[in-house]
Amino acid sequence: MQVSLLYFDEESHAAKRLAAAVGIEALRMQRHRFPDEELCLRLPAIELPECLVIYRSLDRPNDKLVELMLLARHARERGVKRLVLVAPYLAYMRQDIAFNPGELVSQRLVGGFIAELFDALITVDPHLHRIERLEQAVPLHWAVALSAAPALAQAIAERRHDALLLGPDAESAQWVESAARATGLTYGVCTKQRHGDRDVEIALPELALAGRRIVLLDDIASSGRTLAQAARRVLAAGAAGVDVAVTHALFAGDALSVIRQAGVEEVWSTDSIPHQSNAVILAPALAVALGEVLDAG
Ligand code: R5P
Repeated sequence: MQVSLLYFDEESHAAKRLAAAVGIEALRMQRHRFPDEELCLRLPAIELPECLVIYRSLDRPNDKLVELMLLARHARERGVKRLVLVAPYLAYMRQDIAFNPGELVSQRLVGGFIAELFDALITVDPHLHRIERLEQAVPLHWAVALSAAPALAQAIAERRHDALLLGPDAESAQWVESAARATGLTYGVCTKQRHGDRDVEIALPELALAGRRIVLLDDIASSGRTLAQAARRVLAAGAAGVDVAVTHALFAGDALSVIRQAGVEEVWSTDSIPHQSNAVILAPALAVALGEVLDAG
């Protein structure tokens, strides 16, 4: 089956790295935004292949979900038989129950929307908390969830060989435990209570933190308040220093400066979202998963 990968400008580096690792051509999508904010997408002037891979990380997701709908439906109309979405960051996974009466459960709704458009999805560290497997949120046979925790842990161990890994909340236990297994670093997990988008309370685990170098490890930094609050707590407990490692560098608004003001020294992330903190390249792991999905087609 002929295969091409489509990418958008914001993600050209990561997308081209993936295409090169798999040995498929990478084609650039063009996007125009009209004054009234509607979108016009333009494909390269080629005959579409039987199998199309779309690389689109779903940070700042609202426009991108519309793009995916336009692109996938157009591709089907033009005879594309297999559509694969590589979305290193998968949005809307945190709203997995109605936290307040009447709230929509976006995880299931967005997951269902993606499953209607695509034959396969590959993503990294999706925020699965109350469910175990990605296909419970995105009902596809090929719903592949990779974890960046071992690679992030490796990057941490190279820079801070005696670090103590700390997850800021119960959800992070899965990533911190896997990072600790990959490196032999010691770890702990905090507890968190969220009172609002930018208002969280963190309680430290019963561990001796005085004099230790702490690396806070989480899947997502969004407002940055979780990491900032955890950093303040560990420094108040006498830690020698604190750094941060996250899979998805969302860093909304003032997040990065809030984290720095809390005393965090280094910030490392994967290239799931292009950001100055990117220290781990996902292309090799994504290429293995994409190769398997393509071979199965
Ligand atoms: C939630 O449990 C996630 O794992 C992150 O801890 C959370 O999304 C971080 O959000 P924020 O940076 O806004 O505190």
